[in-house]
Amino acid sequence: MINFFIKTYGCQANVADSQAISNFLTNLGCKKVEIEQQADLILINTCAIRAKAEQRFFSYLGVLAIIKKDKKHLKVGIIGCVASYRQKEIRRRFDHVNFVFGAKENLFELQTLLSDFVLKIQMLKQFVSDQIQNSLVSFDKRPPSLKLLRTRRTSGEKLPNAVRGEPVEPYEQSKSLLLGGFKNNKKEFKQSYVNIMTGCNNYCSYCIVPFTRGREKSYLLNLILERVKRDVQNGAKEVVLLGQNVNSYKDPQTGANFATLLKKVAQVDGEFWVRFVSPHPKDMTKDVLYVMSENKEKLCGFIHHPLQSGSNKILQAMNRTYTVEQYLEQIDWIREILPDATISTDIIVGFPGETEKDYFETRKVMEKVKFDNIFSFIYSPRKYTKAATFKDDCSAKIKSERLEALQSRQVEICYDLNNCHVDKILKSLVEKRLANGKLLARTAGNHRVLFDSDEEKNGNFVNLKIEKSGAVNIFGYLIE
Ligand code: 5AD
Ligand code: SF4
Repeated sequence: MINFFIKTYGCQANVADSQAISNFLTNLGCKKVEIEQQADLILINTCAIRAKAEQRFFSYLGVLAIIKKDKKHLKVGIIGCVASYRQKEIRRRFDHVNFVFGAKENLFELQTLLSDFVLKIQMLKQFVSDQIQNSLVSFDKRPPSLKLLRTRRTSGEKLPNAVRGEPVEPYEQSKSLLLGGFKNNKKEFKQSYVNIMTGCNNYCSYCIVPFTRGREKSYLLNLILERVKRDVQNGAKEVVLLGQNVNSYKDPQTGANFATLLKKVAQVDGEFWVRFVSPHPKDMTKDVLYVMSENKEKLCGFIHHPLQSGSNKILQAMNRTYTVEQYLEQIDWIREILPDATISTDIIVGFPGETEKDYFETRKVMEKVKFDNIFSFIYSPRKYTKAATFKDDCSAKIKSERLEALQSRQVEICYDLNNCHVDKILKSLVEKRLANGKLLARTAGNHRVLFDSDEEKNGNFVNLKIEKSGAVNIFGYLIE
């Protein structure tokens, strides 16, 4: 049996890819383990969006060198966004890395590569165990070539189908690797991550994604629908549609847009919720909101709508191609068409040229919209991007102060907004049991609700009466 471990950094697209790879390897007969030391194959799915994520990956890679010293047959593979744009450097600098496969390369090739590595590891393990058995009679420790091993191999563990050259539904597997994976671990609810597209054409001036994931490419609507149907039949209670810019989705066959895709996904039979991330304000249209309002039982009233900055000057420098006024108009559409929807956003502080005035314009938008959640980041210069050539005139200290003040204010806003739920009954989907013994459920609006129950209810829709709230969690009890 070959054990694999997969470490994932970054966004949900990476989570989806890792999930698909885990499913692929499991189908090959490998076993997923939670501890690196138990693994024969370690994959690291990397993120390049900010320097910090990249630094964490490189220090983790250092730790793996130590593990690899004691385990000769261990193979280490680097995939994802850093693998995309620092491929040569990783190969040159790290002897203990066996393969590097970037996020914009052909996923079909990754399948072949993984199958080959599984085969190699299997043979090396066999060789080591043969050596141990023969050590009393043989002093020849030279490993024979893999080709020789192939012919010598007589007994030992049964090789998985695909490795033996009998493909396990190759078409099915290719599709699932392409679209991301179905999360089916026993401890959590079943969730379907579906990449509806890959890449990005927007070239926001700060963002490395167009360089690491390549040009935008939508996947076939029929393929996506087939995946959703199959995952729902297999028990998925939540479907998350993923793309860097979902509302520019366009079916390559029919030209159908994102609103049509959403409508068709909502028509799939079964009790499940649908979320999507992320739209881009430049492509936001009301038809998506209307489809959401007509299909509320399936399509969650939750929109992640990335603002990035509240200053038109900075938005322009970011190449976001919308104005604050247009963004706020879209917020009005959401409030009007989906009055109960929650709205979250992404904000970058300390972009080159951001003055105190620009920063306070962002804070003003926060006060106007009162986002349910904000993911906020300090600007991180990224190689190849246009903004990396801009003069970064804001000190690290000021950037941190701006971020901290923005986040503190958001905690207050979250606290007030969450407080409005007290005494309400909220339908929620149970995700998992937390370390503190409570069950975690999520509302359609993406609020975290914690409650007590001895029964395992993962994947159940429950009604929870809200008793109290905090900035991050709200607390309730089960209503039958
Ligand atoms: N620096 C800081 N934040 C960034 N993001 C993308 N690139 C950068 C960068 N260079 C943020 C944006 C994006 C989110 C996924 O990450 O806010 O929406
Ligand atoms: Fe990056 Fe902008 Fe594309 Fe989002 S839309 S992935 S921020 S370039």
